[in-house]
Amino acid sequence: VTVHLVGAGPGDPGLITVRGLALVRGCDALVHDRLVSPELVAEAPAHALRIGRDGLEQPLVDEVLVELARAGLDVVRLKGGDPFVFGRGGEEVAALAAAGIPVDVVPGVSSLAAVPASAGIPVTHRGVSSTVTVASGSGRGGKPPDVAALARAPGTLVLFMALGALPRIAAELIAAGKDPTTPAAAISRGTLPGQRVVLSTLALLPAAAAALGPPALVVVGEVVSLARPAASTGAAAA
Ligand SMILES: C[S@@+](CC[C@H](N)C(=O)[O-])C[C@H]1O[C@@H](n2cnc3c(N)ncnc32)[C@H](O)[C@@H]1O
Repeated sequence: VTVHLVGAGPGDPGLITVRGLALVRGCDALVHDRLVSPELVAEAPAHALRIGRDGLEQPLVDEVLVELARAGLDVVRLKGGDPFVFGRGGEEVAALAAAGIPVDVVPGVSSLAAVPASAGIPVTHRGVSSTVTVASGSGRGGKPPDVAALARAPGTLVLFMALGALPRIAAELIAAGKDPTTPAAAISRGTLPGQRVVLSTLALLPAAAAALGPPALVVVGEVVSLARPAASTGAAAA
């Protein structure tokens, strides 16, 4: 009995891995996040139990996974992006390990680089940025980001879950010394139909991106000036 912790990719169902898709197609139970595309959920066999994780607290999700595995089912836990990038995958592995259940982690394409790529933004670029700093803007369930430290970081800043707090984060970055004219972007629904990209500067991005909805990723740094709005990956290109 093994639980497969599978990354579904950033949104476009075509961006799951070959191995991840094979596991979904062969499972008896699929426990999935809200951000996972319905097309991938539909790939599970007709007999498979499908359980949306929405509204379930983490301890209950852990318990459900343990119970399904103990019932002898082939369980796939399908998570958006990569399970170990702001995905609480580590917590689920720990809970399953504590219950004596082996876990197989199948990485996914994280929105970390895939969503900027869908807006034509390379997170690194020779001669422009060779450092990427990744942070959560919400601090949900943990500590809020150390914005002063982020302001000092060289290169590209990629902020997850930062839309709601963007006015405060941008103001704090600027107060801590980040140049207000630094190119900055917000990308909502990256790789999905309905993707929206706002290209601006750090000072102006909060107002420019105010109408965007989640999920959205914020990128701050000179690489944003390399964006080619016509470039796209995945579904948006189709
Ligand atoms: C709980 S985190 C999960 C991240 C995921 N594990 C990954 O590796 O991409 C959810 C956040 O990821 C970002 N995100 C995920 N998918 C996205 C997408 N298609 N477009 C823009 N941002 C996305 C947003 O910042 C969203 O609030």
